[in-house]
Amino acid sequence: MYVNMKYLLDNANRDGYAVMAVNSVNMEMARAVIEAAEELHSPIIVQFGVGQMSKLAHPSEMVPMIKAMAERASVPVCLNLDHGPSLEAVVEAIHWGFSNVMLDASSLPFEENVRRSRMVVDLAHAKGISVEAELGHVGQAADGDDNRDDLYTNVAQAREFVDRTGVDALAVAIGTAHGNYPKGYVPKLDFQRLAELKAELKMPLVLHGGSGSGEENIRKAVAGGINKINVCTDAFHAAEDAMKAKWEEAPGTDYLNIMMTAEAAIKKFVKDYIRLIGSNDRYIFEAADNGSKE
Ligand code: 13P
Repeated sequence: MYVNMKYLLDNANRDGYAVMAVNSVNMEMARAVIEAAEELHSPIIVQFGVGQMSKLAHPSEMVPMIKAMAERASVPVCLNLDHGPSLEAVVEAIHWGFSNVMLDASSLPFEENVRRSRMVVDLAHAKGISVEAELGHVGQAADGDDNRDDLYTNVAQAREFVDRTGVDALAVAIGTAHGNYPKGYVPKLDFQRLAELKAELKMPLVLHGGSGSGEENIRKAVAGGINKINVCTDAFHAAEDAMKAKWEEAPGTDYLNIMMTAEAAIKKFVKDYIRLIGSNDRYIFEAADNGSKE
């Protein structure tokens, strides 16, 4: 089923789990992600951003394909515009048929972030599309932004932001960052702040920069009220590692088979992650209680 993100994350918020949002840049990735979710009876979010669109994933091809995969899936699937940088990008995503849009005005002053987010909520909600915004700023791991607590989300501001914009989900900055951390490094997350944000907002919260965060951090973040986790870098690495290993083992592996290897690796990675964040078995009838009279 093709659904908006509000539906999917309100359920996750009510039942205390998180849904994975995987940046998917071609057919193989999108299919691997959706099949992994189906096999584990899990809701799932497929997403990509404007940089990925311009390199590989043009929405004119990607959106109809992902919608078709979603419609025939037995689990809820959302397609999210990741980090929409402008009103134009958001309006285009609505036009293409995304079921959720994220506006990222997190680098702008608070009032401007409110103004833009409010505008996007007005437009998107009129079309039944839900909205994610970001307050505080999740920066780049390569720049050490995870340690910059001046970028972390302020609880009182978050309350005001949500009240004034009406966003459906809020991306919060609590100590993760996008991309690769230095080798062996695990970020330190501000769980106290997360607890305060959740107690105040009681709404779906989003963690960006899920890659390289470490299993324990991710488990604790979900327990603390995170309902959506964005993962890009680690999903790409899963494919790259599997392709390298395959070519080492069998150097003559052709294009068809290397793409199949990548797809299988992404699917396994997503399944493991789904189990970690507890969204598995959310859409399943128990075998012992299927209501059948036969
Ligand atoms: P990572 O690449 O660090 O997983 O971040 C992905 C992300 O947050 C996309 O919005």
